[in-house]
Amino acid sequence: MSRFPTFPPEFEFGAATSAYQIEGAVSEDGRGPSIWDTFCRRPGAVLDGGDGDTACGHYHRHREDVSLLADLGVRSYRFSVAWPRVQPTGAGPANPKGIDFYSRLVDDLLHAGITPAVTLYHWDLPQVLEDAGGWRCRDTAARFAEYTALVADALGDRVPRWITLNEPWCSAFLGYADGEHAPGAREGTPALAAAHHLLVAHGLSLRALRAAGVREAGIALNLTHVSPAGTRPEDREAAVRAETQRNLMWTEPLLAGRYPATETDTWEELIERQDFRRAGDLDLISAPMDFLGINYYTPSTVRAAPYREPDPGRRHARDNRFEEVPVPGARRTAMGWPVVPGTLRSLLTSLRERYGPALPPVHITENGSAEHDTPAADGTVHDTDRIAYLRAHLGAVADAMADGVDVRGYYVWSLLDNFEWSYGYSRRFGIVHVDYATQRRTPKASYAWYRELIATAGARA
Ligand code: NOJ
Repeated sequence: MSRFPTFPPEFEFGAATSAYQIEGAVSEDGRGPSIWDTFCRRPGAVLDGGDGDTACGHYHRHREDVSLLADLGVRSYRFSVAWPRVQPTGAGPANPKGIDFYSRLVDDLLHAGITPAVTLYHWDLPQVLEDAGGWRCRDTAARFAEYTALVADALGDRVPRWITLNEPWCSAFLGYADGEHAPGAREGTPALAAAHHLLVAHGLSLRALRAAGVREAGIALNLTHVSPAGTRPEDREAAVRAETQRNLMWTEPLLAGRYPATETDTWEELIERQDFRRAGDLDLISAPMDFLGINYYTPSTVRAAPYREPDPGRRHARDNRFEEVPVPGARRTAMGWPVVPGTLRSLLTSLRERYGPALPPVHITENGSAEHDTPAADGTVHDTDRIAYLRAHLGAVADAMADGVDVRGYYVWSLLDNFEWSYGYSRRFGIVHVDYATQRRTPKASYAWYRELIATAGARA
């Protein structure tokens, strides 16, 4: 295999992070509490008992982190704005100090020749809004549109690329059905309402971004590549269910203006019966986007499983009549996720086949791996597994482009080791190692590899 896959000169290489995972400073400059601050305090919610109170200290070290990005040579940096910094209570005028932080960050990036790409919602809902019902309630979508307008008003002149929501599947189902993410609810159909309201929030936010005249707007979905574990009809049905929930539940309303319907699934009927849907919602949700962001890590191989009730007497809002099985022969990352890079190419080509011209240009808004990094005595990390992962997935992107899929860019997840949600600090995704005791940053071998790729990819095209 050649050292680097080949990309056209205009292809945008980038790196990504999110606010709660790196910033820390959760009580500074008027920031209000978010659902993740609250969730982390719940015993057992986070694997190592960690929280985002300090994280990577990025709030006070953003200059150093921008220098790391500049040395890396990335064209773009994807970061998220913390809603509770801008609106500590989820409503009202913008907190000037919250806006100032992001404004300075944007200026520093531009000064370093790096294009900012802003994610408006990377899971840190203001706690006050959760107390009022959170994503179960339609009003949260309206609040999100107001917040969008405030941020776009402050940064829209300098930020060309905007991502409304990050991985709404996680917000809805991990947050309100499985209880693995904040707010940690294990409820019934409210999780379906949350899914719908997140999509409505995306539509309203897109409208606010258009009104502010931003150039490029889209969403970041965690799509997966689904295959049945075997040839049994029930496993094929299980794969259809998984495909529906993980992918079609999001791509169909966004790109085709309809919710998915499959013969094998009663779950959509459940959605159909809900009264949270209103006339006109699907038109709002399916308004054209300038790009589709895809976060990709691992495929899903599934087999049929019996329906499981999470709590007695409560209806699970998520069709769970399927379960993941290991992929034979595939290496697993430190998350336990199978590494099957060719599935990224298949996902991209299948999206193009399904949606044709309705598929906007794609940005891979996240891709990367958590590995068992062991720093050498001098602090360096020789993360050859991560390099192999990145090279193979970038190769899959290049292959999909050769197949005709319009992929414009790729953001590695992540610039820094950071707070990996319910896994706390026990999983490291960074191409830069962070010593959390000292906040010392040490670029890993993967950082040097990515820098060389960026420096040579265009030239080799
Ligand atoms: C997706 C999420 O957007 C990001 O926050 C998370 O750290 C990575 N996946 C890795 O799990």
